[in-house]
Amino acid sequence: MCGIVGYIGKSQAAPILLDGLAKLEYRGYDSAGIAVYDGQEIRKVKSRGRLKILNELTHGGETLPGTVGIGHTRWATHGSPSDINAHPHHNKDGSIVVVHNGIIENYLKLKKKLEGKNYKFVSETDTEVIAHLLDEYYQGNPLQAITKVMHRMEGSYALGILFGDHPDELYAVRKDSPLIVGKTEDGCMIASDVPAILRYTRDVTFVENGEIIRMTKEGMEFFNADQEPVEKISVHIDWDVKAAEKGGFEHFMLKEMYEQPRAVADTFSPRLKEGGIDIGELGMSTEELLKVKKLVIVACGSAYHAGVTAKYIFEGLARIPTETELASEFRYRNPILEEGTLVAVISQSGETADTLAALREAKSKGARVLGIVNAVGSSIAREADSVMYTWAGPEIAVATTKAYSAQLIAIYLLAMKFAFAKGILTGEELAGMLGDLKKLPVQIEMLLNNREKIQRFANRYLAARDVYFIGRGIDYAISMEGSLKLKEISYIHSEAYAAGELKHGTISLIEEGTLVAAVSTQKELYRKMISNITEVRTRGAFVLLVTNEDNTEAEKAADYVIYLPETNPYFTNSLAIIPLQLLSYYVAVGKGCDVDKPRNLAKSVTVE
Ligand code: AGP
Repeated sequence: MCGIVGYIGKSQAAPILLDGLAKLEYRGYDSAGIAVYDGQEIRKVKSRGRLKILNELTHGGETLPGTVGIGHTRWATHGSPSDINAHPHHNKDGSIVVVHNGIIENYLKLKKKLEGKNYKFVSETDTEVIAHLLDEYYQGNPLQAITKVMHRMEGSYALGILFGDHPDELYAVRKDSPLIVGKTEDGCMIASDVPAILRYTRDVTFVENGEIIRMTKEGMEFFNADQEPVEKISVHIDWDVKAAEKGGFEHFMLKEMYEQPRAVADTFSPRLKEGGIDIGELGMSTEELLKVKKLVIVACGSAYHAGVTAKYIFEGLARIPTETELASEFRYRNPILEEGTLVAVISQSGETADTLAALREAKSKGARVLGIVNAVGSSIAREADSVMYTWAGPEIAVATTKAYSAQLIAIYLLAMKFAFAKGILTGEELAGMLGDLKKLPVQIEMLLNNREKIQRFANRYLAARDVYFIGRGIDYAISMEGSLKLKEISYIHSEAYAAGELKHGTISLIEEGTLVAAVSTQKELYRKMISNITEVRTRGAFVLLVTNEDNTEAEKAADYVIYLPETNPYFTNSLAIIPLQLLSYYVAVGKGCDVDKPRNLAKSVTVE
């Protein structure tokens, strides 16, 4: 996700901003920029690409003299990576300049209103809307303008703001996106995350939602949204920089697992409007949706597993014939794509060579291609006919977690949209499902907080040689993802198997002590799964069962049970994956593996 920094004090601001942004590079970004008040005006330098370019453009900050400024590294969400979309953004005369981390969900509506008042936009970003909105409300009092704008914005934001006619002040405000502030030796700083500030102070204040900060060289004042002063305390940070980049977590993978509630909420929230689902970026009218006779989903790895889940959901809920294929197979088998086929390619990075090739193969046969992508402006995003972004933010760990969970959300939204358009889902049924969808972030968080129990269980299986993941229906799909997670970070061989298929051969591999992870969340299949679990247990397997709280047979059937909170049967993969991720993570940690950078693997497989 984006990173913001700000400084006001007695030193030159630009070098401090550049240094702070460098400490946020680990968050992933595609462009960067800084703005400094030089005594006359607020000057801005910004560019697509790495911070190195910004350093060269500003000679390490020397070309931007001044002691107050803000900086930004951008992970594109609205508008592809480009110089013009890079932050900072400003109002028409450049007297108000802002950097932003987050997503303004109602920015299009606000943009339309501002354009109706003759505001001119130069970028595709949601952030530029904030700069013009501040301009709209500004009458000389920054605090007043900020609080008014806060009441108009929906979504998440951490903002750093400069007002040209208040050159001795720096403002910041926060809602849902992280923001910390700190008093340094000779001034004050704001930052999205601790690493950017540690060099200058270890005493930081974590800003709460709705709080506004006014900073000067001497110090800072906190206000609430009613412009009333609030008292804040600072905390002393003992982390070193490396630990700070991981937010205090031991690995990026665990940090990103804990970011799943946010990634899930950020992916569905902007698309839930007036009780319905708005996926405008599909670029398909209801009539065009109804013309889709078949769905072909193509992807690799975990994205492929999300596609397997999609098959069960699109066929089960939306009654659309769906095929899910490995991109590396699809691209070479001269696929038959009939009239009315929609091809959906799923990719976190948007750069996977096989998936990109599959997209081109599908387009060469005249099929319409939808990209479900996490990286804005990536090759797949650019070449697809339309793109539905997952807003998980950049994922650093090679083993995907939050991006995969966000892909599931995109799939649920699409399937519900199709089912509603086809009249299969009534308005009431849709409302019920959306109610369940909105509970997922809290339920995921609850399962994550159950991690000690899974850690203890995992420590008993560090020496495991073969592990089997079994399930039926979408529980088979999630078993695939659970198996891949274990393999790729702990190097333990594992297989996912359709539980009903075991007796056709593979069950011969089950022996005393073999670990079998069974997933059973589909009520109508409980009994079938119980008999599959019994089959393997009688042959010596130790069975971990991930199931719903109402599965009354669970304790008798399995050796170790993890219960999931109640949700819609189509959404259970979003919950079942959490204990499976934790199991893999703790086995890998227990084995001393390099969890974030497993051997032989790359985060994005851009070669065949
Ligand atoms: C998943 O943990 C792996 N990193 C890998 O299987 C990955 O899902 C696959 O390479 C596809 O990547 P993409 O989503 O970026 O296309």
